[in-house]
Amino acid sequence: MDLLPEPDCVGAEGGGDRDHSGLVPFRALKRETIAIHGGHRIDPTTKAVATPIYQTVGFGFDSAEHGAALFDLTVQGHIYTRIDNPTNAVLEQRLAQLEGGVGALTVASGASAIHYAVANLVEAGTNIVSVPQLYGATYTLFAHLLPKQGVESRFARSDSPSDIAALIDGSTRAVYCESVGNPAGNVADIEGLAQVAHRAGVPLIVDNTVPTPMLLRPFEYGADVVVHSMTKFMGGHGTTVGGAIVDSGNFDWEREPGRFRMLTEPEPSYHGVIYTEQFGRAAFVARCRTVCQRNTGSTLAPLNAFLILQGLETLPLRMERHLENARTVVAFLRADPRIAWVNWPGLQDSPFYPLCHKYLGGRGISLITFGVVGGFEAGRRTFNALRLFTRMVNMGDAKSLVTHPASTTHRQLTAEERRKAGVQPEMIRLSVGLEHIDDILADIDQALRASEIRPPMRARLHGGEAH
Ligand SMILES: Cc1ncc(COP(=O)(O)O)c(C=O)c1O
Repeated sequence: MDLLPEPDCVGAEGGGDRDHSGLVPFRALKRETIAIHGGHRIDPTTKAVATPIYQTVGFGFDSAEHGAALFDLTVQGHIYTRIDNPTNAVLEQRLAQLEGGVGALTVASGASAIHYAVANLVEAGTNIVSVPQLYGATYTLFAHLLPKQGVESRFARSDSPSDIAALIDGSTRAVYCESVGNPAGNVADIEGLAQVAHRAGVPLIVDNTVPTPMLLRPFEYGADVVVHSMTKFMGGHGTTVGGAIVDSGNFDWEREPGRFRMLTEPEPSYHGVIYTEQFGRAAFVARCRTVCQRNTGSTLAPLNAFLILQGLETLPLRMERHLENARTVVAFLRADPRIAWVNWPGLQDSPFYPLCHKYLGGRGISLITFGVVGGFEAGRRTFNALRLFTRMVNMGDAKSLVTHPASTTHRQLTAEERRKAGVQPEMIRLSVGLEHIDDILADIDQALRASEIRPPMRARLHGGEAH
């Protein structure tokens, strides 16, 4: 298992030439370069340049002793694809490098990444403290599933660090936020949240799906663990579901004896290994792999890891175009009298503008939410009239996508829960894609025009009244 950080790659300081492993020390490289080269080397056996898809269930042992050493985690190597796989390992190293962490675990979906990151720290009788505005399934996991296992989820009144701090106590195991919330576009004060979490002795877990490490690296502001839905911008083409957990290696799990005993005391489910002793700074992610993933099996298929690696190579370029198109769409919507309101953190009058400035360099995001004059009914007609935009519940695809959160992603929430999550009934969310901006704007314009036609009128135009 490639559980130990690669000394020549992860954690290497300074710039320089290729070393004996053929890898360039990643801290010398810019993110655009890491997105293409991180974790990759020409296959030593076949000289294949593209990362091979290791479509195999398992890996042979040289001997009984070799197998035992692999299971004891004392040598590196692969055992069984439910636990790890060489294709996934390239993706994991690339993600760790992109985020600036010591290790990563890829898993079957963003949802499983979130589940594992939390499950790795909690036990019955403990709690997590979260910001209130979250992606719908994350909210459901926290509000409804974890409590059934004896874990309390405490949602703060707002995402301000002081409201979060007020809920942390001796049983808290983590603070949780989304760097940029989906769909509300709220930008978290990661530095402030990390400070209150650390003051209380707990780590900050950040879902960094929306900005991706191309726009924001939460570890630079004190976050301890980052989770991703790679399904979105990283894969980028709407083909592949995947998730990841990245460990900063910075949290001191041993600071308070007993609090994180799953990492600092012998692990009964893995013949007594002490993760902090055996894996040092990579203790958290090593346990995610060998306890959470090994025993519950939300594994990313190697083919999917390959597809996401392809996506990552163009992520930097795609993010630029996503943001440029989004900025133009926002300007269009703001100037249009048919639009009642526009929510986008890059707008100077957005309450999130100062945080957008600090954490996203003022560049905003490619998600835009807005309401049409005329409320829910007018919004529904506009939504149905879009032609280029695909109506679906995804984001970060090359294609422009549109969703109505109140009737889809946040449908299972009560009206009050939706209000707290920042989802208004009439809210339409755009994920602005990579098409030519003229075509994107023309589609929005025609949809708004079509939505002004009342149904009886439309029926007349199509001869509906004659029947
Ligand atoms: C911010 C965020 N986190 C996590 C997820 C869950 O990811 P996945 O669909 O890959 O399970 C989503 C899905 O939309 C999301 O928007």
